[in-house]
Amino acid sequence: LDRKVKQNNWEEGNFINYKKMSQNLAVVRSRLNRPLTYAEKILYSHLDNPHEQEIERGVSYLKLRPDRVACQDATAQMAILQFMSAGMPSVANPTTVHCDHLIEAQVGGAKDLERAININKEVYDFLSTACSKYNIGFWKPGSGIIHQILLENYAFPGGLLIGTDSHTPNGGGLGMCAIGVGGADAVDVMANLPWELKAPKVIGVKLTGEMSGWTSPKDIILKVAGILTVKGGTGAIVEYHGPGVNGISATGMGTICNMGAEIGATTSVFPFNDRMYDYLAATKRKDIGDFARVYAKELREDEGAEYDQFIEINLSELEPHINGPFTPDLATPISKFKEVAKENGWPEEIKVGLIGSCTNSSYEDMSRAASIARDALNHGIKSKAAFTVTPGSEQIRATIERDGQLQTFEEFGGIVLANACGPCIGQWDRKDVKKGEANTIISSYNRNFTGRNDGNPATHSFVTSPDLVTAMSITGSLYFNPLTDTLKDKDGKEFKLAAPSGDGLPSRGYDPGQDTYQPPPKDRASVNVQVSPTSDRLQVLQPFQPWDGKDAKDMPILIKAKGKTTTDHISMAGPWLKYRGHLDNISNNMLIGAINEANDEANKVQNFTNGEWDAVPAVARDYKSKGIKWVVIGDWNYGEGSSREHAALEPRHLGGLAIITRSFARIHETNLKKQGMLPLTFADPADYDKVKPEDKVDILCTQLEVGKPVTMVVHPKDGSSFEVKLLHTFNEPQLEWFKNGSALNTMAKAAKS
Ligand code: F3S
Repeated sequence: LDRKVKQNNWEEGNFINYKKMSQNLAVVRSRLNRPLTYAEKILYSHLDNPHEQEIERGVSYLKLRPDRVACQDATAQMAILQFMSAGMPSVANPTTVHCDHLIEAQVGGAKDLERAININKEVYDFLSTACSKYNIGFWKPGSGIIHQILLENYAFPGGLLIGTDSHTPNGGGLGMCAIGVGGADAVDVMANLPWELKAPKVIGVKLTGEMSGWTSPKDIILKVAGILTVKGGTGAIVEYHGPGVNGISATGMGTICNMGAEIGATTSVFPFNDRMYDYLAATKRKDIGDFARVYAKELREDEGAEYDQFIEINLSELEPHINGPFTPDLATPISKFKEVAKENGWPEEIKVGLIGSCTNSSYEDMSRAASIARDALNHGIKSKAAFTVTPGSEQIRATIERDGQLQTFEEFGGIVLANACGPCIGQWDRKDVKKGEANTIISSYNRNFTGRNDGNPATHSFVTSPDLVTAMSITGSLYFNPLTDTLKDKDGKEFKLAAPSGDGLPSRGYDPGQDTYQPPPKDRASVNVQVSPTSDRLQVLQPFQPWDGKDAKDMPILIKAKGKTTTDHISMAGPWLKYRGHLDNISNNMLIGAINEANDEANKVQNFTNGEWDAVPAVARDYKSKGIKWVVIGDWNYGEGSSREHAALEPRHLGGLAIITRSFARIHETNLKKQGMLPLTFADPADYDKVKPEDKVDILCTQLEVGKPVTMVVHPKDGSSFEVKLLHTFNEPQLEWFKNGSALNTMAKAAKS
C-alpha cells in the first residue's frame, strides 16, 4: 500500500492514500469489533479522528476528510465567492468546476454552445479566472456533464468525494462514495474544515442472476425506486452487492447510483470488481485499477456485514420498467405499461424521446440505443417522435462520432445536443407544444417532477432506459412494447425489433475529442479574478464583521414567522437562481415567503422606526442602514428543506444577529453558525407565544458558553420586560466562528497564524 498512485491524470501531487485509509479502518475496527459494510469502510477510513469519533449509524455525526470536491457551474459561483472571502491562496483539497448547467438546448450542439458562451460570459470568465487563481481544475462549457467527467477522470474505488449537485452519487459506479452537498459544505472542504455527515444507515441490495434481452442497468434502479419510493433512501447509503454485480458494466453501475438520488439516498455504492478495473484501464487509469486490486479486501463489504434494510433482486427475472409520470418512483413493468397508461389516460402520443444526460450516456448506452435505431433504419423506418441525444461528455461525443453511432442517430431523425445538462435541468427552449397542453415525453434521464424538463406542468414525463426510449420513439406511442409487439417496415411487412446489443467499452479506445480542460497555471499569483463591479449576477463577498464583544440591546423583531418556514420561504428559488452569485441582489428574496404572525401575510412587516409596512428585505435594509441589528422569531423545524447556503448568508448580509425558534432543521442551523449568526431555541417552546412581533429584545451574547443557556430580555410595548431562557448547540470551535464573524474568517485567521 506504500505506492504513490495519482488520483487522476490531470493533477500532480494528489495521491490515493489507501495506506492511511487502511490505518484508519484498523482503528475503527478495533473499536467497533463487528463486520462492516462497504459504505461504512469508505466513510470510516476518511474520519478526521478515528480514535475518538462516536460511531452509530443513523445517530452520530461523522467528521470526515473527503478526497475531493466537485462543483457544477450554477452552485460553484457562491461556493467560490465564499471561499475567496476567506483570503486563502488556494483550495486545501483537490477541487474541480464543471460548466454544464447553463447551456440551453435550442437547435443543436455547436450553436447552442456558442450562444451559451455569450449569454453566460461573465459567469464563465469569473469561474475560469477564479479556478486559475485558487488552483482548481476548470472544465469549460462543452466538456460535458459533471458526473460523466468525474467518472471518466476522477472517481476511484474507496474514495470520498463531495459534489455540489444531487446526482454526484454517479461516482458509485467506480466504487467511490460520492455525495451531493450544498455549497456551504464544499466551501468547508475547500477551506480545510472537516465535513460533517450524519452517520448514514445502510440499505443492502443483493443482486443475483443476470440481465438479458431488453433489460438494462437502468431497470435495476427503476425497480428499486418503485420499492423504496422517493423518501425510502433518506439518511441511508444504498449498497449493492451479490453475484449479479459482476454482470453490470461500470457505467451501468454509475447509472444505478446516479438515480439513487431519486429515492433520497445519501449515495449509492458498488464494490470494486473487474468491470471497474476494465473501465479504469479503458480511461487510461490502469495503475489505479492495479492499486485497487492490492487494497481489494477493503473495497467491498465484510462477510456477515449487517444492513439496516435488505432488498434482493433477481436480475434474470427483472423486466424493463418505465417510471412516471410526474414522479420517478411510480414504476411500471413494460408488460403492464399499456394497460396502466390506458387506465390513467396518459396521452398516448410520445412527442419527444430524449436519450443521454448524466444518467445514461455511456458508450454502452449509446451503442445499444444505436443498434435499435439501426435496426429500424434497416427496415426503412425512423423515429416518429422528435428524438434528442445528449452526450455526457466530449469524449463520449467524439467516440460515438468516430464509431458511427452518432450518424445513426442523425439518420434516425435525431438531433445531437450540446455535451451538457440541457433539457434534463429545464434548459430547453421547447417549441412543439404550448404551455398547459397535455403531452407525453420519454427520456433516459433520472428526474421527472412536474415541469422539470420544459416548464410545462401538463407534460407527462416518463423515465426509462435509453433502449426503451429509442424503441418507443419509433412508433411514437406509449402503448408499444418492443418485447412483444411488431412494427411495420417501409413495405408494410411486420417485423420485431431485435433486442439491443452494444459494447460496454469502445474496442478502439475512447477518442478524447477536443481539449476542454483548463488546468490551473503554475504562476497563480498574477491571475486576476474577473468580477465586473457593475454585474448583476456576480458580486465579490466581503468578510463579515467579527462580533463586537457586547450584549445586543433593544433589537427589533424583523418578522415573527408563523408555521412552516422552509429554506424556500427564506430564500426562494425559481427566477432568483439567476442571482445566486450576487449576494446583495439575491437578498431581495430574504424571507419573502414566511408568514408574519402580525398580519398573517407574506412579505409585509412593520418598520418600527417609521411605522410603515413594507417588504421584509426592504425593512431589513433600512435597519441595516441605520445600524440597527435585528432578530427573527421562528416556529418548529425552521429552515427545513435544502442545504441552500443563501438562506443563512442573506440574513447575515442584511444585518441580522440571531434567529430564535422553537427548533431548527439541523443543516440550516449549522449554516447559520458558519455565517456567524446565532441560531437559538426557546428552552420552553411555549415562550414562542409570549413574544409578540412588535416587541424589542436584548440578547446577552456575553453569556455564550458551551452547554449554557443564554438570556433574552423581552421588552413589550407597554414598557414592561421579562426574561426568556434560550438554548444553543454551539461547541467550542463553533463559538469561535461567531466571535470571528464566520467559519471562514476563523479558517483564514488560522491559516495566517
Ligand atoms: Fe443534473 Fe445535469 Fe444530470 S441537470 S440530472 S447533472 S444532466
